[in-house]
Amino acid sequence: MIAIGCDHVAVDMKNEIIEHLKAKGLEVKDFGTYSTERTHYPIYGLRVANAVVSGECEKGILICGTGVGISLAANKVKGIRAAVCSDCYTAKLSKVHNNSNILAFGARVVGIDLAKMIVDSWLDAEFEGGRHQIRIDMLAAIENGEDIE
Ligand code: RB5
Repeated sequence: MIAIGCDHVAVDMKNEIIEHLKAKGLEVKDFGTYSTERTHYPIYGLRVANAVVSGECEKGILICGTGVGISLAANKVKGIRAAVCSDCYTAKLSKVHNNSNILAFGARVVGIDLAKMIVDSWLDAEFEGGRHQIRIDMLAAIENGEDIE
């Protein structure tokens, strides 16, 4: 199950991404927002982040104007590694090296065709583990206020 959320500027793109995911046979849970009425991106970043850390959803996708605000909100939640990506290479490597559990992008930055390619690159990638796991563990240690040097 993939969690998805957006703010008011990204509703159309979110709906197209949902259709794209469903066409690939994936299950999607939509955490809003559902209209273009002005709202606040932290609400949806938090909803999707909570769905991922609770295990309700395996991973999440977040979209706002730039992808920045909504990813910042998600990254405040312990255990979340949200990556803002405007290209397929970064999306892929954010999973392979960083084990990102949320992909974010901006509806005002990327067009819908590129957004779909970014999503596909991220979904198709697998975390490599190994030396990268050490660094993921260091990120978790930072969250716990531990010394990492
Ligand atoms: C909303 O105007 C805009 O600030 C938001 O979508 C996002 O780009 C913030 O990072």
